Order: sequence, then C-alpha cells, then structure tokens
Amino acid sequence: MKKEGLFDFDTLVERRGTASLKWDRYRGRDIIPLWVADMDFQSPPAVINALQQRIAYGVFGYTLPPEELNEVVVGRLASNYDWIVKPEWLVWLPGLVCGLNVTCRAVGEDDDDVMTVVPVYPPFLTAPGNSRRNIIKVPLRERQNRWEFDFDRIEKSITDKTRLFILCNPHNPIGRVFTREELSTLAGICHKHDIVICSDEIHCDLVLDRDKIHIPTATLNAEAAARTITLMAPSKTFNLPGLGTAFAVIPEKNLRRRFIKAMAGIVPGVNALGYTAARAAFAECAEWHAALLEYLRGNRDTVAQAVRRIPRLSMAPLEATYLAWIDMRATGLENPAVFFENAGVGLQDGAEFDGPGFVRLNFGCSRILLEKALQRMTAAMEKSPSGS
Ligand SMILES: Cc1ncc(COP(=O)(O)O)c(C=O)c1O
Repeated sequence: MKKEGLFDFDTLVERRGTASLKWDRYRGRDIIPLWVADMDFQSPPAVINALQQRIAYGVFGYTLPPEELNEVVVGRLASNYDWIVKPEWLVWLPGLVCGLNVTCRAVGEDDDDVMTVVPVYPPFLTAPGNSRRNIIKVPLRERQNRWEFDFDRIEKSITDKTRLFILCNPHNPIGRVFTREELSTLAGICHKHDIVICSDEIHCDLVLDRDKIHIPTATLNAEAAARTITLMAPSKTFNLPGLGTAFAVIPEKNLRRRFIKAMAGIVPGVNALGYTAARAAFAECAEWHAALLEYLRGNRDTVAQAVRRIPRLSMAPLEATYLAWIDMRATGLENPAVFFENAGVGLQDGAEFDGPGFVRLNFGCSRILLEKALQRMTAAMEKSPSGS
C-alpha cells in the first residue's frame, strides 16, 4: 500500500466482479463509473490490519459499541472540532441514511413538515415521506459563483407544522463548507420557530480548502446543541461504506430518548467489523487521511481545469467532498447524464438531487482513471457542443 514513502492512491484497484454497486451498474460496458459516493481506493492499512486481527479471533457474537471506540470518538470530536461530547450522547447506527429516516420518525407527528434546501443528497428528499411527513424544499441560490442559503425564503417557507430542518454540511452535492455566520443564522431561525435540526456531517473530514474549517452545528451555542441531532460516520473519509457504521450525537436527553425509541425493533446494531474498522480509522489513520486530502485536492483541481476548458460547462469552487457539481444548463442537454453515459462516463443526473441541468461527478478515484473520463467528456462535448 505504500509507494515511495507515500500512500498509493494511483494504482487502479480492480473492482469489477466484486459486487460493487458503483462498478456493477455498468457491468460489461466500457463506462467509467464516477457516480455513487464511494472511492476506488483501498481503506487505510491500519483499518485492514485491525479487521484482519478481528477476523482471526473468529468469534462474531452480538457486539456492543466498544467503550474504547466511544472514547476515541469523544477525543477526536474534542481535538478536531473543539466539541466536548459525553459518551452517552452517542447512538451508533448501521448507516447514516438510517439516521436521517429515524430522525424524521422521531421528530413531530404524521403530516408535519420537514424542511431542507435543494439540490441535496437524494435520501433527504425521500426520508420525510417515508415517515409520513411532508417535505418543504427551499432552493439554495447561486451568487457570484457561490452557493448559499436564501434565508428570507427559508423563513417565509416555514409553516406552523414545520418541526425539522435537515441540513447537509459540508454539503453534498454543492461542496460548500458553511461558515459560522451562515450556520448561526440558520440555527437562529430554527430556534425562533422551535425547529429541530438534523445535521448530516458525514463529509466533515473531507474539507479540501486549507482556509476553511468544519463547524459542527451543535457547537454554535447551547440552544443549537439542545435542538441538533448530528449524524457522522467514518465511511466517506476512510472508504468504509460497505461496513455500514455511523453514529448520531444527541446532547438533549428527551430528543435522544425519542430517537432511540424510533429505532426500537427496526434498526439493528452495528456489526462487529464495522466497530473494529471505525476505531482503527479514527485512532490510527491521521497520516493516511492527510495524504488522501492532498490527493483529492489534486483531483479536484484536475476536474476544475477540465470543466473550465469545456465550453458551456461550469462549476462553482468546490470546498469539500470528492463530489463535483457541474453546471450543464448552458448546453441545453435534456439528459446530461445519459449524454455522458453514451460517451463512456457514468455520472449522476442532477435531477435526482432536485438540481436538473447539473451532473455530479465522483472524483474519489485514481488520477489516471479520472483523466481518462475527463478526456471522454471533453471529446463528447467537442463533437456535440450544443448537445444535439
Ligand atoms: C450527505 C450524505 N449522507 C449520507 C450518506 C450515506 O450514508 P450511509 O451510507 O452511512 O447510509 C451519503 C453518501 O453519499 C451522503 O453523501
């Protein structure tokens, strides 16, 4: 895994034939899959070692969240985010989407309203309906090549049945890391209208801009802490989504009780290997993480350069995540993702995120593969710039 003293993100790992969701979509077709958000890299060596040891032990009984893991998480939140969390505030989950759905079930009643800003990660759009809540979607706005909240519109869209706001920060797919000021304004509105905040912070350790920091919503002030359910996971950063491990941080006792009650009998515990991987990832992989961020910065710049060169494509600066949100509205293409699929690149259509006219490109892959995909996209646009 080490190459010239550095971690190796360049070598292509064969993922075909491994039941990979990302790669199997295009089985038998020459389409480079840059869609669903997992990376093509192997997990950090320390994670692989820990899993090998756990497997060698060979007993896979029902497993509690290891105390040591809780301590590691508490320590990490304190050192990375100045967030002092008590171990009992942590609720482990077999996935973060599960946490979004549990939150919708735990907060409010049937027919209440849940607000979010769009475009957004698709499960945000379906979670409220899954729990018989109505969704209120408020568009983010683009100003001077930057996506931001439209606070007036958010406040005007709040109804007397709005009980929950689901926030994604850092934001998938627009790649923003919201500032303290933005988060404080949003939390202030939620406080004023007595709205619980569910803050999906799964991408918090993937901030690429060196001058930006992730601020957990719950650290803003005591009121925000008391009304926020924070969802986090090691899965994006350390490439472990197949191990189904995430957690909620819920400081307020009653909110936590409601959340745990909504899980009862439905949500299984995290599997033993997920806990093992999470502990190793959080405790032993700082160097790998730093190297990953460096590699992803290079990939982000490669994508941004290619997009700049292709007429009629554009992209706002991407501050975090390995997901680029590319504006194709000027091409007039009706189905931009299908257009690129026909050119041999599998992207995700913005319409799935409530952002038609855009595509989302996952650059969590080796540079060589990314460059090949960008060449295919460039050639396709040159051949058919109007998309006709
Ligand atoms: C914002 C966001 N939340 C949640 C998830 C998925 O979490 P999980 O696989 O733990 O359900 C993703 C995956 O891309 C994501 O981008």
